[in-house]
Amino acid sequence: MKDLNFTDPVNEKLKGVSRRDFMKFCGIMAVSMGLPLGAGTQIAQAITNAKRRPPVIWLHGQECTGCTESLLRTSHPSIEHLILDLISLDYHETLNVGAGHQAEAALKKSVEDNAGKFILVVEGSVPVKDGGRYCMIAGRPFGDIVKEVAAKAAAVIAIGSCASWGGWQSSDPNPTGATGIPEFLSGTTVVSIPGCPPNGYNFMSTVAYFLTLKKLPELDALGRPKFAYGRLIHENCERRPHFDAGRFAEQFGDEGHRLGYCLYKLGCKGPMTRNNCSALHYCDVGAWPVNTGRPCFGCSEEGIGFTIPLFTEADIENVTPSSVHPPIQTTRGGGISKGAAALLGGIGGAAIGAGAVAAKRLGDKDKGDNS
Ligand code: SF4
Ligand code: F3S
Repeated sequence: MKDLNFTDPVNEKLKGVSRRDFMKFCGIMAVSMGLPLGAGTQIAQAITNAKRRPPVIWLHGQECTGCTESLLRTSHPSIEHLILDLISLDYHETLNVGAGHQAEAALKKSVEDNAGKFILVVEGSVPVKDGGRYCMIAGRPFGDIVKEVAAKAAAVIAIGSCASWGGWQSSDPNPTGATGIPEFLSGTTVVSIPGCPPNGYNFMSTVAYFLTLKKLPELDALGRPKFAYGRLIHENCERRPHFDAGRFAEQFGDEGHRLGYCLYKLGCKGPMTRNNCSALHYCDVGAWPVNTGRPCFGCSEEGIGFTIPLFTEADIENVTPSSVHPPIQTTRGGGISKGAAALLGGIGGAAIGAGAVAAKRLGDKDKGDNS
C-alpha cells in the first residue's frame, strides 16, 4: 500500500480515494468476479505494486468515445488514480498530451519497449470495406494499426459494443463493413466487454484479474467475462418484483411508469440481455437505464441492441423469481427487509450476480443507506 501513500491527507484528497474506499473497491471487485472476499487484499496488493503496473495501449476506431467517457466517470478509483497508479496508460488518443507525429512516435516506442507485456484495448469497430478507407489514422487504415499492435500485445480487450461485434455502425446496411475486433483478429483471444457504454468496473475488474491471477477471467462463448455477463439483467432488476406481480408501465409517463413498475411492455430487453448493470449500476451514483425509467435496449447483446426494435417485447428466457429482491406481497407485516434479501443473495454465493448485489449494498450501507 506504500505506493499509494494514503496516509498523506493532501495526496488522498488529490487522488479522491481513501485507503478504506480503495479496499472496499477491491473487495467489491473480488466478489463481483466470483472470488472469495479475501481475494480483495490480493487484488489490492497486485494493483498497488508499481513494478507490476501493466502498460496499456488504447486505440480508437469507429466509435463515439462513450466508452472512454464512461471510464472517466468511475470514481472508485478516480481516473487519475487509475492512470497513475493502477495501470500505465502509455497511449490513449483521447487523453494523450501529444498529437500528430509526437503521438505516433509514442505509440511506436511503447509497442517496441513493451512487446509481449502490454494490454491492448480497442474502442470502436474496424471498417473493412473499400480497403478500410472509412477510418484512417496518420494516413493508415485503422485495421492495419490494430493488426500490427495486437501482434505484440500480451492480451487484447475489445471495449464497448462497437469493438465487440461492430455495434451500431454494423446495423443494416453496414455501409463501412464495421467489424468487431474478435472477428477482425480471428484466431486471437480477445476479451469483449460490450455495452454502450460498458461499465468501467467491468474493464477495471478484468485488468485487475489479469494482473492478480496472471490469466484472463473465464469467458463465455462470445468472449465476455462470465463474472460480468453470466446473468440476465432481468434476474437482479429492482423492478423484477413488479414483473412477477404483473405490474407494468403501459406507456411512458403513465401511472405505472411513475410508480416504478416493470418496463417490459415498453420494450425492455432485460429478460434477454446478459450484463451486470442491474447489480453494479454506473458511476457510483446508483444509476442505470432501468432505474431512470428507460427500458434496457440490450446494448451489450449482439443481435439485440441496435437490431431488435426498441418497442418490441422481449422473449422471456428465465421465469425463476428473483433471488435478491423480495416479492411485493411480503413487504408488509413479516416480509424480509431489502438488506436481509441482499444478504441472503450473498449467501447463495454460487449466484455471482447476487454476490455483486450484496457487495454493492454492503458498500451503500457504509454510505449511510440503512434500507
Ligand atoms: Fe426489469 Fe426490464 Fe425485467 Fe422489467 S423486464 S424486471 S424492467 S429487466
Ligand atoms: Fe445496456 Fe441494458 Fe445495461 S441498455 S447499459 S445492457 S441496462
